[in-house]
Amino acid sequence: MKILFIGDVVGSPGRAMIEEYLPKLKNKYKPNVTIINGENAASGKGITEAIYKQFLGWGAQVVTMGNHTWDKKEIFHFIDEAKYMIRPANFPEGNPGKGMTFLNINGKEVAVINIQGRTFLPAIDDPFRKIDELINEAKKRTNIIFVDFHAEATSEKQAMGWYVDGRVSAVVGTHTHTQTADERILPQGTAYITDTGMTGPYDGILGVEKEAVLKRFLTSMPVRFEITKKGRHQLNGVLITLNTENGTATNIERILINEDHPFFP
Ligand SMILES: [Fe+2]
Ligand SMILES: [Fe+2]
Repeated sequence: MKILFIGDVVGSPGRAMIEEYLPKLKNKYKPNVTIINGENAASGKGITEAIYKQFLGWGAQVVTMGNHTWDKKEIFHFIDEAKYMIRPANFPEGNPGKGMTFLNINGKEVAVINIQGRTFLPAIDDPFRKIDELINEAKKRTNIIFVDFHAEATSEKQAMGWYVDGRVSAVVGTHTHTQTADERILPQGTAYITDTGMTGPYDGILGVEKEAVLKRFLTSMPVRFEITKKGRHQLNGVLITLNTENGTATNIERILINEDHPFFP
């Protein structure tokens, strides 16, 4: 089984990249499951129902979120009905939405989990205790378990990778918007990458207009951040291949598309 995961889609440039390249990626890699992180899909902050449905229409089966989950107020009106949208599972008990969903792929169940780190991010429930709970729940149904760990600190992400090695199929990091080159299969069979990267503007700073970010650094004055709409775009993701019998990963491949790394069909 192959799982294609695409990192944080930022605004209209990110959505344009999904529309253009998702069919090409599907054609090239033939993934059985496609998952998109959509926490920045609406103007860099949160997601709307229309965009969620657009992602599903373009061929994603699950949309994961992160610390920007609640940025668009309309999320509260549809997240409980959005079967294939998940937000960090360790948000406080009683928050709308859910942190895990299941897919049925040719008779095999696939559990998809979204969970968030606590280092340099809001203090929410312990992701390590929470992942134990979720793995136990998922294991009753399947041993194919995919985790999007939305976190800032590389150490916390690596810690999570080692913590769940051999218990889940893959842990991919999101949130930093910068792809890391440390993809590997951990010794007990879990595919791991610290950060998948970002899909959106190629010439901004983490997707934001570089002029505004520079002004913040140069003046320490409050600056309004807008996503870069002009200029070149990029797409970041990973492709994971796994053994459906025992759920262990056999390969992880980084996907990087931009003008310096063109796509080859
Ligand atoms: Fe993000
Ligand atoms: Fe984030």
